[in-house]
Amino acid sequence: MRILVELVPSILSSDFAHLADEVAAAERGGGTVIHVDVMDGHFVPNITLGPPVVKSLRKVTSLPLDCHLMIENADDFIPAFADAGANWISVHYEACRHLHRTIQLISQHGMKPGVVINPATPVDLLIPVLPMLHHVLIMSVNPGFGGQEFIPYSLTKLSRLRELRQQMGLKFRIEVDGGVAHDTIAAVVEAGAELLVAGSAVFSSGRAEQNARELLAAARKAAESNAA
Ligand code: DX5
Ligand code: ZN
Repeated sequence: MRILVELVPSILSSDFAHLADEVAAAERGGGTVIHVDVMDGHFVPNITLGPPVVKSLRKVTSLPLDCHLMIENADDFIPAFADAGANWISVHYEACRHLHRTIQLISQHGMKPGVVINPATPVDLLIPVLPMLHHVLIMSVNPGFGGQEFIPYSLTKLSRLRELRQQMGLKFRIEVDGGVAHDTIAAVVEAGAELLVAGSAVFSSGRAEQNARELLAAARKAAESNAA
């Protein structure tokens, strides 16, 4: 089976003073979705950005904006992200008290819903909502910061998710986020990941275009040998 892998650059590790240039470079390197990490200082121990930055990004790229909400009370902010031009919204299983309702709200606002799980959260907890989702995001680091080390047991979770998708006859996309770099990208693809979020591996060292190109080449190679 042919697997379509996509590189999803995470702007968290980019130079925010030159955000438009950074995104353009990542796009030239083959990035096809832009990952936007939204942190509130409550659900995760860090603060980043919100709808105004999404609105600015919307003006400089036509790629889908994949907003990863690491926030409490996500329902309160979903309309603002829709107005700002977000395309995909991922909410954390661990942060949503009424997950089904939140997923419905994202869809009602014309965006594609996804659910994210932290490293310690089992994949099977998502079984009831899988039919509602456009994508499922497996965190392979604890959320909050870029540049952390990949947690190896995430690979088992990716494989389990792929198995569930097949068993349930569903089509959601499988996304991975955290520690995806040259030394881990082949393994995540082999385990079933198709949307490959990479922050520091793309934006560190000021050569986003080249980094993105190399990562994507490695991911495609792994996908081809999987298919063979
Ligand atoms: C971390 C964020 C990630 C982050 C990944 O909480 O969700 O998207 O940018 O960074 P790297 O790829 O450096 O691990
Ligand atoms: Zn993220």
